[in-house]
Amino acid sequence: MDGNGRWAKSRGWKRVRGHQEGVNSVRAITTECARLGVQSLTLYAFSVENWKRPKAEINFLMKLLRSFLVDERPTLMENNIRLHCIGRLDDLPAESLKELRETEAMTKDHDGMVLRLALSYGSRSELADAARAMAEDVQAGKLEPSAIHDETLREYLYDPSTPDPDLLIRTAGEMRLSNFLLWQISYAEFFVAAMGWPEFREDALHVALDNYGGRTRKFGGLVSDVAPETPAPTQGR
Ligand code: FPP
Repeated sequence: MDGNGRWAKSRGWKRVRGHQEGVNSVRAITTECARLGVQSLTLYAFSVENWKRPKAEINFLMKLLRSFLVDERPTLMENNIRLHCIGRLDDLPAESLKELRETEAMTKDHDGMVLRLALSYGSRSELADAARAMAEDVQAGKLEPSAIHDETLREYLYDPSTPDPDLLIRTAGEMRLSNFLLWQISYAEFFVAAMGWPEFREDALHVALDNYGGRTRKFGGLVSDVAPETPAPTQGR
């Protein structure tokens, strides 16, 4: 969700106002994705690297996260959305973690869209955590090294049950992966929007989805291998 700070600065405001406005985009995009029938939406809200930011900005973001987790409960309830957070969640302040667990528990039986918030998330950390857990299982005799395949690794990632993303959207014109879901996005399609996250609303999402709908995905094979019934997320709109 890039460009919050730039969006605010370009209006002569403090950076954090961009984060505040970014929450309105989170609500708009989450609700619209649920309405369109998207199965899962992962929002990169705070990276492991973001802890390097000034303390005041971190504190603001953690407070914003806490109020988001409480204020957006009605949105999650009304739209049958299940919240699931990924990352090194124990790094979060205790009050934020408490609200996070409570919101996850409240929405756990929802069978609509999964909203995944990546918090204190880093893909390299996730892979290191997975490698450690796998090594421990090998040491305990629960896992044979010769039985480790691509899908074995998936089982050790933070959220093995959510399918890999089909589409990765980046805002503010950024063309980097920034340590996000490196394993899971192996075959994701990219869409880069020039606008900052606070301006990324329903219309911008539709442009990204329409663009995705026009892509041919071969997954390394040939066009003829692609199942014709592969659904595009633009369906139902
Ligand atoms: C990146 O923009 C954004 C973040 C590090 C924080 C994202 C947070 C929100 C959108 C609001 C809170 C969200 C939830 C779900 C509580 P940036 O600060 O790097 O902006 P810049 O690239 O213009 O400097």
